[in-house]
Amino acid sequence: MICFTTFELMNFLENFSLKKHNTFGIDAKAKYFSEFISVSELKDILNSEIYSNNKTFVLGEGSNILLTKDFEGLIMHNKINGICILEDHENSIIVEVGGGVNWNDFVMWSVSQELSGIENLALIPGTVGASPVQNIGAYGMEVKESISKVHAFNIKTRKSEIFSNEDCNFEYRNSIFKGEVKNKFIITKVEFELSKTPLNKTTYGAIQEELKTLNLRENPKNIAKAVINIRSRKLPDPQVLGNSGSFFKNPIIKTERFNKLKKEFPNIVGYKISETKTKLAAGWLIDNAGLKGYRKGDAGVHKNQALVLVNYGNASGQDIINLSKKVQHTILEKYGIAIEPEVNLL
Ligand code: EPU
Repeated sequence: MICFTTFELMNFLENFSLKKHNTFGIDAKAKYFSEFISVSELKDILNSEIYSNNKTFVLGEGSNILLTKDFEGLIMHNKINGICILEDHENSIIVEVGGGVNWNDFVMWSVSQELSGIENLALIPGTVGASPVQNIGAYGMEVKESISKVHAFNIKTRKSEIFSNEDCNFEYRNSIFKGEVKNKFIITKVEFELSKTPLNKTTYGAIQEELKTLNLRENPKNIAKAVINIRSRKLPDPQVLGNSGSFFKNPIIKTERFNKLKKEFPNIVGYKISETKTKLAAGWLIDNAGLKGYRKGDAGVHKNQALVLVNYGNASGQDIINLSKKVQHTILEKYGIAIEPEVNLL
């Protein structure tokens, strides 16, 4: 028997515009750009001369980055696909998902199978591979609650490794992939344990209200629908108005300090997250400082959600940075609180 193996030559695009690869819609260029659809293609890229001679960055859908200038190096785009059921138990399933799969597509698959655990995270932009990095969260749910394992490729040893949920050191918008092992691994696949029993987490925000308005009962599919409605009303669609979701993190401060601020600003919004700590709604701080809807040139603070910065068309990364500095400065002056970007600056 004679077998032929087909393979594509690794493709490095040069001087590549990243406008369609970042949800802010910033027209910055990459010196080189290459995609991988498998671990083996990733290995080929890592063995190339272009990889050795350039700084690099792994990009998913570019939904949590701000390109501040042209990238003088190699952008590697994860396109590893596939959703595979590994184990089918009485109350749950284990599913392995390619890092390049669109996050919302995976949520839609999950609810179509009547599985539960990620439905409140519907419509979060980005890829499955990026979801553990900042432990994406919304409407009372975080992805860390469903992740069982993360498969990541160790750039130094050139071997795949598996991180258990505990290994990932998940925290609010944080994980080991943003800390200790930052830039040392490339996430290739993620395993999730999804429940066959609906979790029905509907106490956060306006989910229950939305279900009532839609006249829908609580189940994963309907909760996803409610979340999609709420998000679409509040958050700008990146296809229409460039943005990358929350630009800033909600700052965590001592409850003692929160109580003092509350005396001065009785309407301030905060959630107690432990005995001594409170998470402040940065959106409220910005809104109450009068910056909601503020615009300078093509960079602006969104009119419905002050935590989101937007590109009205031709803003450069630097325009957005200048705006974010103005917001940070105003918040520091007014409340004595330092807020930090949630998006990664490149
Ligand atoms: N608020 C204002 N004015 C604003 C925005 C918010 O007063 O312009 C107040 C709201 O009234 C509310 C509070 O601030 O009382 C919190 O607002 P919201 O519930 O909209 O959530 P958030 O804290 O602003 C976080 C996540 C979002 C996630 C939502 C829903 C962060 C940094 N952001 O936003 O995540 O969708 O909760 O759970 O934690 C993202 O990361 O890109 C993102 C959109």
